[in-house]
Amino acid sequence: MRIAVLTETDPIEPRVAAVPETVKKFIGLGSEVVVQSGAGAKAGVPDSEYEAAGAKIAGSAEDALSGADLVLKVRRPNADELAKIQKGAVVVAIMDPYGHEDALKAAAEAGVDTFAMELMPRITRAQVMDVLSSQANLAGYRAVVDGAAEYGRSLPMMMTAAGTVPAARIFIMGVGVAGLQAIATARRMGAVVTATDVRPATKEQVESLGAKFVAVEDDEFKQAETSGGYAKEMSAEYQKKQAELVKGHIAKQDIVITTALIPGRPAPKLVSEEMVASMKPGSVLVDLAVERGGNVAGAKAGEIVTVGNGVKIVGHVNVPGRLAATASSLYARNLYAFVETMIDKEAKALAVKWDDELVKATNLTRDGQVVHPNFQPKA
Ligand code: NAI
Repeated sequence: MRIAVLTETDPIEPRVAAVPETVKKFIGLGSEVVVQSGAGAKAGVPDSEYEAAGAKIAGSAEDALSGADLVLKVRRPNADELAKIQKGAVVVAIMDPYGHEDALKAAAEAGVDTFAMELMPRITRAQVMDVLSSQANLAGYRAVVDGAAEYGRSLPMMMTAAGTVPAARIFIMGVGVAGLQAIATARRMGAVVTATDVRPATKEQVESLGAKFVAVEDDEFKQAETSGGYAKEMSAEYQKKQAELVKGHIAKQDIVITTALIPGRPAPKLVSEEMVASMKPGSVLVDLAVERGGNVAGAKAGEIVTVGNGVKIVGHVNVPGRLAATASSLYARNLYAFVETMIDKEAKALAVKWDDELVKATNLTRDGQVVHPNFQPKA
């Protein structure tokens, strides 16, 4: 069987779907791997390293895709790529299907069987395949690094001959995978860290990382976690109480990092214009939710905005891509762990187990149809 690794076409995407380590493993399973020339360039992997791992290098996407049974990508293939993928081939990528039903239809019409890594169930067996976690963890780390870089003062307390420099105060809003890593990173860098979330389980997690938990802990808070482990959208009344509490706290912070998301909904608005205006000049907000509508009023995707009072709002997009080498190696391992389950090691051939729960949860298109239950036309 032949596996193709393509160069990402979206200019904001520097990651790559396979690294030499995973190429070697695929070859060990009896596959042939073809990497499009330059696929790893922005993630620090030259063609020569793929070749040394045993891959063939193809000069174009068309050559890489010719005869490929399996296509590995970071992002969903575009129309041009779909036209070059052979019918019946499997594509595994971060498909970003919500709101892009047309693209799903196009993949189905092209006769390509697509799998969305981000729909992987968060069960124990699939942890090694969980791209949301592997990438969010890096985004949380990078948000602190980006915040620190924009902040004109130091993070740790320093006692010097010229006097003492106080530690920076960092507030993390939303304590999922990204938020927890942001807390750990900010602590390692010596900041005084506080954090908030609406899920009660996060209180202990925040405290175990040495940060202080700040939240409205009323009856609604006690029930804010869904059975799936995610946050519910909170009532207007709760949001008002939360805003009151956060208002006084934010005014004293040097760096605020927001990561709050609600599945299937726009990101909750947590920091108002008035709160931004209450911060000291030189303070920094980093909004990791900016691509989902943003947690911070005034945040702009892809920009660093400086508001009137000298506060910066950082809105980088594709934050895991800002650590393209690390993000690619973790993503590639997630992908390998999943794709390995689709390969028959005896026959050295693609053999998708269509009734496996991970396959069912991630499969979007098959045999010319959009098959995922979440994307069926409404009756
Ligand atoms: P996410 O990316 O959906 O949301 C980030 C955080 O924002 C969450 O902690 C959420 O509670 C918080 N949030 C939402 N609305 C908020 C508001 N109004 N104010 C403050 N915070 C708000 O979450 P992520 O990172 O995907 O984690 C979700 C859950 O999944 C967590 O419980 C995590 O531990 C769990 N998980 C489980 C895994 C497994 O394999 N069992 C793997 C990874 C995560």
